[in-house]
Amino acid sequence: MLDKLSAVPPDPILGIISAHAADPSPKKIDLGIGVYRNEDGGTPILKCVKEAEKILNSTETTKSYLGPPGVAGFNSAMTDLIFGEDSAVNSEQRVHTIQTPGGTGALRLGADLIKAAAPDATVWASDPTWANHDAIFPAAGLRLENYPYFDRQKSDLRFDAMMESLRSKGPGDVVLFHACCHNPCGVSPNEDQWREITDLTAEKGFLPMIDLAYMGFERGIEEDTVSVRLFTEKCPEVLVASSCSKNFAVYRERVGAISAVCDNPQKASDVVTVINSLTRKNYSMPPTHGTGIIDIILHSDELTALWREEVADMRNRINGLRNILSEKIANAGIERDFSFLQRQSGMFSFLGLSVDQIRRLREEFSIYTVDSARVNIASFNDSNMDYFVDALKTVL
Ligand SMILES: Cc1ncc(COP(=O)(O)O)c(C=O)c1O
Repeated sequence: MLDKLSAVPPDPILGIISAHAADPSPKKIDLGIGVYRNEDGGTPILKCVKEAEKILNSTETTKSYLGPPGVAGFNSAMTDLIFGEDSAVNSEQRVHTIQTPGGTGALRLGADLIKAAAPDATVWASDPTWANHDAIFPAAGLRLENYPYFDRQKSDLRFDAMMESLRSKGPGDVVLFHACCHNPCGVSPNEDQWREITDLTAEKGFLPMIDLAYMGFERGIEEDTVSVRLFTEKCPEVLVASSCSKNFAVYRERVGAISAVCDNPQKASDVVTVINSLTRKNYSMPPTHGTGIIDIILHSDELTALWREEVADMRNRINGLRNILSEKIANAGIERDFSFLQRQSGMFSFLGLSVDQIRRLREEFSIYTVDSARVNIASFNDSNMDYFVDALKTVL
């Protein structure tokens, strides 16, 4: 039976990682990878995570099964963090959060939940969106379509075109939004635009699903959930798929969560039973080491304060790099306007280069990124930025 299968091409990012690793050039730069990098090019374990892990290791008494919802303290702490401890939706018990293996697991579980509720639903994702969105929803048997989002000429949001498209959606549609730090284009709606989007969502009655993979990386932890708070104030039902991979830097621990907001507490409890049964049929129950660590952090004032500081450091470094890079490009006499880098946020932006220019960066300068010219801003540092700007000037 298995002999009918043929090899699937590897993810382009994996090809870039291995080509970069094999390149002997001391000047090589990997701009493709999707993890945060510090000034030394590393992705270290956060101090708050190290501290909490020590506590976890010394207090954990069993590795016995825990059940499909996982670590209860993590689930409630994430609800407070995402929706606000004193929010109406929280105090009315209309929202429940269940841990998942990473944000990807949350998206897949959310997709399975949508499929169970409305098998014929269409999921609408921004054009462009994170490449794995394109795979996850169809894998759950759902139709995936796009709505206009990014203007490649202006490197800006196509707000009017997006709103026009959303006006034609209704019950039976699910619209997927990136809460902040859009991957791959770095462009987010501002607060006024979120107000208009959430008003329209409430008016048209489609289900908003929010991908919250970079909470804290754009403006701040609470600031980055502004869309979630507006959706939950206005809409009876909301799904949020969150990831702790970036903001707790626990990538390989696989920590994420799916939150379901319902019209009333009874429905919210019912939906949790469906999520638990979907989990049981899939991976039975989630891993708890990473969520155990975050449970400890979010229940300690001291460790939470440390975590907030460490998230702010990562955010400020990325925003600082955006400013410096854009200034260096302008000062190098490159005619094309790259000031959009300063207006965008999060780890990713499109540089707007052709496939041929990307190939030249790779072959002539050992600078690696994907053909779409999406770059990870956190990969820049003091010692590689000038080299990059020179190379960019040459290929332009
Ligand atoms: C937009 C977006 N959503 C979700 C994820 C999922 O992250 P993970 O499964 O690693 O937690 C990512 C990771 O890169 C992402 O960029």
